[in-house]
Amino acid sequence: MVAYASANGSTEEIADRVADGLRAAGATVHLCDLTAAGPPDHTAIGADHLVIGSAIHNGQWLSAAERFAEMVANERDGPVWAFSVSSVGETSTFLSPRVARFLRPRTPLPRAVAAIEASGTLRDHRKFAGAIAKGDWPGVGRIVFRLMGGHYGDARDWGDVDHWCRQIVDDNR
Ligand SMILES: Cc1cc2nc3c(=O)[nH]c(=O)nc-3n(C[C@H](O)[C@H](O)[C@H](O)COP(=O)(O)O)c2cc1C
Repeated sequence: MVAYASANGSTEEIADRVADGLRAAGATVHLCDLTAAGPPDHTAIGADHLVIGSAIHNGQWLSAAERFAEMVANERDGPVWAFSVSSVGETSTFLSPRVARFLRPRTPLPRAVAAIEASGTLRDHRKFAGAIAKGDWPGVGRIVFRLMGGHYGDARDWGDVDHWCRQIVDDNR
């Protein structure tokens, strides 16, 4: 099961890519959009293998992903892989490279990921850079974005997403 929450689509496309990578390795994969209407999916919690990803807004996962993560932390025993999509990934960024280097070791885990980690089921958490368009991040965020050398566009590193997928597959051999 690959469950995700995306506001503007870049996380959704990463979730699609992860699902495709796992399918290519022979897995049967279900995609679950956590922001879709309806209660969180309990069948997702019981999946053999669970990948959860969310866009980051104001340092945290989107609320639909936070709610799901809380259920996962409380109810799930099986392994969980998590990914967060923000302005700074492990291998790419849409901020200035210098700011990204400063932020990487200092950015705390989103509280949803910390909750899954505390429950003992988290196998890995990967940070990917996403994409941003003019007008996506209004108000003060826009000013901070500019101050941090931000540039609009798509900073996703598909090679890193594919690499992470292979790690998940290898972890299950
Ligand atoms: C309202 C808003 C708040 C954001 N807050 C953060 C943040 O706190 N830290 C960060 O690194 N990126 C932040 N971003 C950038 C997003 O995480 C990034 O654009 C991501 O790719 C969005 O994923 P999505 O396209 O799936 O919604 C923010 C973007 C928006 C629109």
